[in-house]
Amino acid sequence: MMRQGVYKNIVECIGNTPIVQLQKIGSEQIHDFYVKLECMNPGSSIKDRLALQMIRDAVDQGRLQKGGTIIETTSGNTGMGLAMIAAVEGFACIFTMPDKVSDEKVRALEAFGAKVVLAPTAVEPDDPRSYYSVAKQLEKEIPNSCYMNQYFNPSNPRAHYLSTGPEIWKQMGEHVDALVAGIGTGGTLCGSIKFLKEKNPEIQSVAIDPVGSIFYEKFTTGKVTSKAKPYLVEGFGEDILPSTVDFDFIDHMYQVSDQECFDMTRRLAIQEGIFAGGSCGGAIHGALEYGKSLREKKNILILLPDSGSRYLSKIYNPQWMKENGFV
Ligand SMILES: Cc1ncc(COP(=O)(O)O)c(C=O)c1O
Repeated sequence: MMRQGVYKNIVECIGNTPIVQLQKIGSEQIHDFYVKLECMNPGSSIKDRLALQMIRDAVDQGRLQKGGTIIETTSGNTGMGLAMIAAVEGFACIFTMPDKVSDEKVRALEAFGAKVVLAPTAVEPDDPRSYYSVAKQLEKEIPNSCYMNQYFNPSNPRAHYLSTGPEIWKQMGEHVDALVAGIGTGGTLCGSIKFLKEKNPEIQSVAIDPVGSIFYEKFTTGKVTSKAKPYLVEGFGEDILPSTVDFDFIDHMYQVSDQECFDMTRRLAIQEGIFAGGSCGGAIHGALEYGKSLREKKNILILLPDSGSRYLSKIYNPQWMKENGFV
């Protein structure tokens, strides 16, 4: 019997997300703007892809055996992906997180049977009480356990080299001129563009960094002299330099403010019917800035990492917006 759209389990549904052309946003420019909807992954974000690759590679390399324990420091989308796959494939999961994390995020991970260990927020990363140190200690203590560490794990960009990049190339009929993405670990942009540049070295990569993160200074001056400053948009930008960011693969970088991210995210829902997370607006805002710098018509693809549902109490809450000074 031939079946279509029927999968053996939820893990098989990861990837092959749709690309949609923007109709109103960017219509004043000569370019065509497209968005790839990573919220359509079963764990609702792009992080399902690297969660799967990190587990597959850890098993192949013998760092994780059947029935073992996955450890990660995350309160976010990577945790959802890991917990979802662990539930299907019979791994245990422990997430260490700062104690400022919301109850919702803890419950979302516990829903998949994962264990959450909270650690004090107000300590330095190398303090033995920090959630990084606790994760490393747990890996030492628990037999057959593996700390995934997405910021320093080559399986992260590899996930996008093997899945996101090839999907974009195929879906766009080999006609894509630029790839735009926010950078956090950098895995998404650097992994995807590595594949795309092998197909066509002319394809440009455009990284988007929130004001307050350290990447922009590193990209423009080669150094990091100032400390990161707080910002409210979530999921991208960093206060450390992860080994998964490969600056050789970044052609352009644009900075975006919280206000620009949130305004464009809300506009995306109202004008295009796309309900996305706050960094998505930032990526689109940056893509429009990049578009303005080009004279010839280009096909510009923007990666949208996650859905708006995690941000209902923030970006989509007029009271929160007002309280934080966003009109
Ligand atoms: C919510 C979210 N997840 C993932 C990413 C992609 O980041 P990474 O560089 O870690 O692959 C971003 C980047 O904007 C993001 O905002």
